[in-house]
Amino acid sequence: MNLGVVDTVCKAERNPIGQQFAEAMRGLYTVINCAIVKTDWCSGEKGVNILGIDIGGSGIKGAIVDTTKGEIVGERHRIDTPDPSTPEAVAQVAAQLVQHFQYQGPIGCTFPAVVQHGVILTAANVDQGWIGTNGETLFQEATGFPVHILNDADAAGVAEMRLGAGRGSKGVVIMLTFGTGIGSAIFVNGHLLPNTEFGHMKIRGKDAEYRASARIRAEKDLSWKDWSKRVNEFLGQMEFLFSPDLFIIGGGVSKKFERFAQHLKVRAPIQPAQLLNDAGIIGAAMAAAELFPSSTPEPASEAESEAKPEPKARAKPGPKPGAKAAAKAEAKAEAKPARRKKTTPAEQPAAPESPIR
Ligand code: BGC
Repeated sequence: MNLGVVDTVCKAERNPIGQQFAEAMRGLYTVINCAIVKTDWCSGEKGVNILGIDIGGSGIKGAIVDTTKGEIVGERHRIDTPDPSTPEAVAQVAAQLVQHFQYQGPIGCTFPAVVQHGVILTAANVDQGWIGTNGETLFQEATGFPVHILNDADAAGVAEMRLGAGRGSKGVVIMLTFGTGIGSAIFVNGHLLPNTEFGHMKIRGKDAEYRASARIRAEKDLSWKDWSKRVNEFLGQMEFLFSPDLFIIGGGVSKKFERFAQHLKVRAPIQPAQLLNDAGIIGAAMAAAELFPSSTPEPASEAESEAKPEPKARAKPGPKPGAKAAAKAEAKAEAKPARRKKTTPAEQPAAPESPIR
């Protein structure tokens, strides 16, 4: 069974009865497909290959990752980020990637914003229509497979801590990604504190990412030395607040680390990220592998079952904003700091099960 079945079903959508039929078939298709895949990935085999997707401001990249080795298997595939990058348009790209790889199974996905239990809470560099959207539910509906979404810097940090510059590091490690924005991930003895968003820390009255991201360096045509002065102010603040044992510098600039390393002046050691552009894809796939484990758990003994709490339900869709912002709002987002949607505790979705969070 493949996604072509859905296309065939869609042809029935010419009259109201056909539409109802198509809707029912889509639901059935999703359930059946998930059931088939669940059997595959619960077979207990080692070396589970999981599709990792990295959503960025200009491109959406996907690849199959061997999550036991943390290695990409085969080719990456890149599709331009739709403009405007509305939830529906981006979800369609995720479905295209699934189709491209003829993939069946759980998916790990990065997102360049705060992601709490699958719900996107900010939108600094993407369409404002994402705020309040449950990305996991949306992508699951679009692809037919379970999806785990986490912040892009958190995903890259997870991969670097497991396999790259942070491997074996104890204490406090701060990963910072310099790209369109600045992403941050903080680890204490290997444990992630998610959604830290230090790119929005104020430096000289502006968000750090509006002074020191790679985008600003390019836009203002700053030399590596002048850009490093701005980065130093940011790293200095971070060091003052957190006394890290290690900084990891990620994002596109990590490839050119030797051009600016000598200008960086902080007490803690600084390492460039090692996984470069693959960190997000690999980290997302590894996070999904932990959330959707490959082997069927041993049946718990009676005593254990009594002691264990009921597993928590998956997050339900978050509240959706009424009006979707279009290109105008997106342009505005470029110039404005991230807007955090206010939610009352009662509106918060269920707690996640991921051990990484
Ligand atoms: C977003 C972060 C993201 C970073 C890097 C920032 O603008 O607020 O969530 O990690 O950009 O993409």
